[in-house]
Amino acid sequence: MKVSTENGFTEETLDPADWKMFRALGHQMLDSIFDYIENIRNQRTLPLTPTVTNEICCPLSEEGEGEEKVFEIYQRSILPYTLAIASPKLWGAVVGQGSPFGVLAEMLRAGINGAQEFSFAEAKVNLQVIEWIKELLGFPKEAGGVLTCGGSEANFTGLAVARNAKAAVQVKEDGVQGLAQKMVLYCGDETHRCLERSVELLGLGNKALRSISTDANCKIRIDLLEDAIKKDRQDGYHPFCIIGCAGTTNTGSFDNLNELADLAETEDMWFHIDGAFGAWVKISHTHQHLVNGMERADSLAVDFHKWMNMPYNVGCTLVKDRRAHFSTFAYGHEAEYIKSAFELSEDQLSNPHNLALPLSRNFSSLKVYMLLRAYGKNKYRRLIQQNLDQIQYLAELIKADTELELTASVESNVVCFRFRPQGLSEVETEIINKKIMDDINKNSFWMISDTTVKGKYMLRACNVNHRTKREDLDFLVNHVKRLGHKNLN
Ligand SMILES: Cc1ncc(COP(=O)(O)O)c(C=O)c1O
Repeated sequence: MKVSTENGFTEETLDPADWKMFRALGHQMLDSIFDYIENIRNQRTLPLTPTVTNEICCPLSEEGEGEEKVFEIYQRSILPYTLAIASPKLWGAVVGQGSPFGVLAEMLRAGINGAQEFSFAEAKVNLQVIEWIKELLGFPKEAGGVLTCGGSEANFTGLAVARNAKAAVQVKEDGVQGLAQKMVLYCGDETHRCLERSVELLGLGNKALRSISTDANCKIRIDLLEDAIKKDRQDGYHPFCIIGCAGTTNTGSFDNLNELADLAETEDMWFHIDGAFGAWVKISHTHQHLVNGMERADSLAVDFHKWMNMPYNVGCTLVKDRRAHFSTFAYGHEAEYIKSAFELSEDQLSNPHNLALPLSRNFSSLKVYMLLRAYGKNKYRRLIQQNLDQIQYLAELIKADTELELTASVESNVVCFRFRPQGLSEVETEIINKKIMDDINKNSFWMISDTTVKGKYMLRACNVNHRTKREDLDFLVNHVKRLGHKNLN
C-alpha cells in the first residue's frame, strides 16, 4: 500500500507502492484462472476439510495480510474447493459456464469500475447492447430495455412496470393500498418461482398469482386461463397481466405465446414473458418457432449468464412502452407529469438509472458488448444449435436404452429421464433414482438435477454448456446406469 508523507501529512491509498510487483501479481492471477479453465475437463471439486475451513473462516486481522498472501490462500484453500461450474459435464439447474474472453471483459469492466451508462461512452455501449438484444430476439425496435443482475430481477422489473401501467391508481403515490379492486395475474404451474417472489415484493401477495394448470406437455392450458380470468372478473378482481413462459426450468417447454398474446389483447391485459434462458432459441435454426409471438409481449425477461454463457450476473428486461417503464422507476413525482405530457428526451428514456431498482450500477453492458462483438451472431447461433442437437442426441440414447425412460417431452434443451430396468414398480423406480441423484450430488454436484413434474420424480439434464461434447453425454448415460445398478444390488 502506498503511504506518502509529503508536506508533513501521512496520506494513504489503496494503490500499490510498487506497480512493477503488483503487475507481476496480476499476471500470476490471470495465469491462475486460465490454468484453471484450460484444464477444466480434469478439475474436480475437492471435499472441504477442517483445515481448509479454518483457513477460510478466521478472525479479520487488524493490519491486513497483504495481497500476495491472500492470493496464496485463494489458490490453496478456495479455488480447489469451489464447484467446477465451468465443467463440460454440468447440466444441473440452468447454469452458464462463462468463457475465457468473458473473464477478460469482466476484468476490464472492473477496471473502469462503476458506470455512468446515461452519458459518455458507457451510454453508447449500453444503448448498442439493448439494440443488439432486440435485433437478436426479434423484439420490436420501439422497445427500450435495461440490463439487470439476472432473470429474477428482469422478471421483477417487467412485472413492476405491468403493475404500475395497469393499476387503477397511481401506484407510485398510493401504492397497492389504494386499490379498490385486487389486482391478479396468471402464469402456468410450471413457471419459475422467482415470479412468485416478484409478486410478493410488489405488494400484491402471492395469492394474486393465479397458477394455471399446464397440459401433459407442461404448457399453460388456455381454456383454464380464460375461465380463471372470467371468474376473477365476476368475483370483483382486476386481472391485469398474463405471464407466458419461454422455456420452463423443469422440462424446457414453451407456452403458446401467440395464443397468450391474443388473449391478453382481448382482455386488455399486460403480456409479460419469462424467457430467462429459452428466449435464445430464437437464434437457433431448428427451434425458433417455439417463440413465435414473443415479439408481441409488453415486456420480456432474458438472461445472458445462462445460455449465452456470459459472466454472472447479467440479464435484461425489454419493455415496449418506454414511458411506462420510465414512469415506474424514475425518482419522485416528476414521473407523474412526465407520464402524460412532458416530452422526454431520448437520454432520459434510456438512462438505466431510471429503469430499474439500482442507482449505482456496474458497467455490465461492457461485457455483453465485448462478447457479442467478438463472436458475432453466427457463433452464438451455432452454440445454441449445438446444445439443442446434443439434447436430441441424449434423448435418442435414452430412448434406445431399455433400462432408461424419457419422462417428459423433449422440446428444447432439457431432457427428463429415469433409470428403470424392467420389472421395477413406480415406487421402486423413485427410490432408486433418488439414490442415483444422491450419489451424483455427493461426487459431482449439479452434473444433473432432479425434479418432480406432474407428481413424478425424475432426473433432469439441461444443456446450456458450450464445452459439452457428445462423448460427455455418452458418459452421463453410462454413469447413471452404473449408479443405478450399484443401487439395485
Ligand atoms: C425460466 C427461469 N426464469 C427465471 C430464472 C431466475 O433467473 P436468475 O437465476 O438469473 O435470477 C430462472 C433460473 O434458472 C429460470 O430458469
